[in-house]
Amino acid sequence: MSHQIALGPVAEMPEGRGLRVEFGEHRVAVFRIGDSVYAIGDRCSHAEASLAEGEVFGLDVECPRHGSEFSLETGKPGSFPATRPVPVYEIRMEGAEAFLVFEDGEAS
Ligand code: FES
Repeated sequence: MSHQIALGPVAEMPEGRGLRVEFGEHRVAVFRIGDSVYAIGDRCSHAEASLAEGEVFGLDVECPRHGSEFSLETGKPGSFPATRPVPVYEIRMEGAEAFLVFEDGEAS
């Protein structure tokens, strides 16, 4: 079953820095880059630091603890020490509003 959480108008979301969204077991890092919104698992796959607190470079976010960079599009790490991807979540747009979509059973 899928669920969605309203994130609000894209224009009001902070740009270039993360927003942590928690729902039940889910912990998701949401980023607005220009008019686009990306959502990946917030727990770094190396040692669970919060990726929402990382610095954004283009379409990558740098883990604040040990510096692995994760793609906001694919969730894959582009540098060590992380080697495993984090989940990528769907963002659904309805007009100017963004919604975070996830399925039951998805881990973050
Ligand atoms: S906790 Fe993210 S790279 Fe180590």
